[in-house]
Amino acid sequence: MSAINCLLYAFPDSALYGRRLASALGLKAAAIDLHRFPDGETRVRVQHPAPRHALLVRSLHDPNAKLIETVLAADALRRAGARRVTLLAPYLPYMRQDRVFHPGEPISQRVVGGLLGRAFDRVLTIEAHLHRVHKLSQVISPSSLSLSAAPVLAQWVEHSRRDTLVVGPDEESEPWIREIASLARVPWIVGRKERLSDRKVQVHFPPSSCRRAVIVDDIASSGVTIAVAARALKRMGIRTVEAIVVHAIFAPGALTRIRTAGLRRIISCDTIPHPSNSIVTAPLLVEPLRKILRG
Ligand code: R5P
Repeated sequence: MSAINCLLYAFPDSALYGRRLASALGLKAAAIDLHRFPDGETRVRVQHPAPRHALLVRSLHDPNAKLIETVLAADALRRAGARRVTLLAPYLPYMRQDRVFHPGEPISQRVVGGLLGRAFDRVLTIEAHLHRVHKLSQVISPSSLSLSAAPVLAQWVEHSRRDTLVVGPDEESEPWIREIASLARVPWIVGRKERLSDRKVQVHFPPSSCRRAVIVDDIASSGVTIAVAARALKRMGIRTVEAIVVHAIFAPGALTRIRTAGLRRIISCDTIPHPSNSIVTAPLLVEPLRKILRG
């Protein structure tokens, strides 16, 4: 598909990500125009006419209002002439609630997946938090895809120091941590984590003789996991502890909690705009998107 038949639309809060991606793909970028009515509703307006294939960029942290605006934009793009609409959501919310944890709850992952699956032809994201359901194609639509951030995380680890131990806070992260460590050619360990409540977590690590470690996690929300993991590593005699997270949610109080745990620094990928962003993830989307645009 030629650049003329494809345009990348970005919401104002994802404009930087949109520009990075558009320039990597050699596409033009257009802004989505939003107007908030006094009653709290949003009017969404897109550049008209839309090309045959519209790419829409929006990271969906603070999801409740953003989800509605995002599906409204998909409708606007189709009415403006787009035959295919692809959502690029660097952060995809509601993926952790993948079962009824307590009677009376919904399966939010399925509800949100269904909503996006009806609005978009496909959704591409980075490191969706998938546990019991392993593929985004089972949650949203057959061609939807969650890309691993391992290549850009490994690059950062490799450029930092050779004697760094890569640490995953929980056993579920083992294949991902192993992949990052193997790409960066450094040792790794994973912990045994038990979450007792939203803000109470225990982590136990196997012994290690390394003196420097970087905790790698997909999400930092309350910051408790990283803080508890950092304290455990320090108790093991590891002098320098840093952390990298993919999705910098950082709920209120999280950064203070992390800083007081003695971490040297915490950095994040740019899937959610935050001052800690140091790793650009748009390159991860380029090849899969080129393939989609050719198809
Ligand atoms: C859990 O499975 C995830 O990988 C993260 O460790 C978790 O979501 C982090 O949450 P918090 O910052 O609230 O401990």
